[in-house]
Amino acid sequence: MKTFPTSVVWCFGILFISVSLITTGSSEVQVVGPADPVVAVAGDDIILPCSLKPSASAKDMAVKWTRLNLKAEDVHLYLDGRDSNVDQFPSYKGRTSMFHEELKNGNVSLKLINVTLSDAGSYRCFIPKLNSQVKETTVQLIV
Ligand SMILES: *[C@@H]1O[C@H](CO)[C@@H](O)[C@H](O)[C@H]1NC(C)=O
Ligand SMILES: *[C@@H]1O[C@H](CO)[C@@H](O)[C@H](O)[C@H]1NC(C)=O
Repeated sequence: MKTFPTSVVWCFGILFISVSLITTGSSEVQVVGPADPVVAVAGDDIILPCSLKPSASAKDMAVKWTRLNLKAEDVHLYLDGRDSNVDQFPSYKGRTSMFHEELKNGNVSLKLINVTLSDAGSYRCFIPKLNSQVKETTVQLIV
């Protein structure tokens, strides 16, 4: 009776695992932020980048931007196809926007105008309804 050499079994095992990792990794839409922190000077208008990769429309999804301070602060909420900022943290009032034209391309970046020193910190870009393991990312802002 012939048996498979153990090394061949291992090779197939590793190949199989690699292929499944690659395929799940590339087919699942994820929330992706920038590799580096966003650096700004007080008074600047900035963009905190965040997008869906591979590209998928976020037009019909809720997008929640918060700042991870001692308590999470609501920075911007896009809900039911529009901006919905009733619970927005007061210091962000009138200073945030999203690029509505870009949502269909999966670009859910946040624009923040007139940055102040107190805006520095970690911002979370969160898409709760995304059918994915990776529904959020964190963007650092250095002022
Ligand atoms: C999103 O759209 C804005 C406005 O057009 C653009 O400046 C920014 O680079 C885009 N970001 C990404 C990640 O595509
Ligand atoms: C920017 O913010 C500073 C400090 O909060 C404020 O004094 C100034 O009026 C703001 N500028 C604009 C253009 O809104």
